[in-house]
Amino acid sequence: MIIQTEEDWKGLRAASHAVAITLQEMKAITKVGMTTKAIDEFGGKVLKKFGANSAPYKDYKFPGYACISLNQEACHGIPSDRIIKEGDLINIDVSAELSGYYGDNGCSFIIGKDLQNVQSLVDASEAILMEAISQIKTDVKINEIGGLINMLAKSRGYNVIKNICGHGIGRKLHEEPTEIACWKDRANRQRFKKNSVIAVETFISTGAKFVHEDDDGWTLKTDDGSLVAQHEHTMVVTDDYPVILTWENEIGKEELAKRII
Ligand code: CO
Ligand code: CO
Repeated sequence: MIIQTEEDWKGLRAASHAVAITLQEMKAITKVGMTTKAIDEFGGKVLKKFGANSAPYKDYKFPGYACISLNQEACHGIPSDRIIKEGDLINIDVSAELSGYYGDNGCSFIIGKDLQNVQSLVDASEAILMEAISQIKTDVKINEIGGLINMLAKSRGYNVIKNICGHGIGRKLHEEPTEIACWKDRANRQRFKKNSVIAVETFISTGAKFVHEDDDGWTLKTDDGSLVAQHEHTMVVTDDYPVILTWENEIGKEELAKRII
């Protein structure tokens, strides 16, 4: 959506705040021995406190509140009885609707000790997202940002997943522009529009460039065992740095500049 009114700002801020706090609280309680379903049910309660509804359930009837993906799963993992082990790479992606507005926020992290040696992958995903965000402004080509994400991933020895991407958001979970890819898609001629609301996400992989749908009909994962890290924020495009709505304290221009690699 394109923000038109103060009410739009307020509604988007409230929805984004709800998903950001829910993600942080889910991350904080995640421990070895828990099932992904237990984490999800906790997250569902936090969303409820805000009066927010799970966006994947509301828009797509996803079987869970949040997407929780492990190791070679890149996204859309279904919360289940699987038990989290020491060293697992986990991704929690929380998106929700509140009073008709949507927010989307995701992150990957390691459970306990880094047994799979993926801290640098996680760090790359987070740093690349911040660098990409810092380059987004009105009229920048969407595919330039994709090209930047891919270039930064390659410079750190990683690949990007090409068949999943960021997206516009606001009044629904997925809106125009429907593809903010992690690579330079020359067929995409779109530019970022002023005051548009977007969810930018990285999908950084130790090898594979594509994910495939699992038999469960939801989970998207690599089929060669490559591990994938994702970070995602919801933001508003401006003539300067974007306003990141899913950052707890709404990161300012100077703070953003400091976090860039
Ligand atoms: Co998401
Ligand atoms: Co998203």
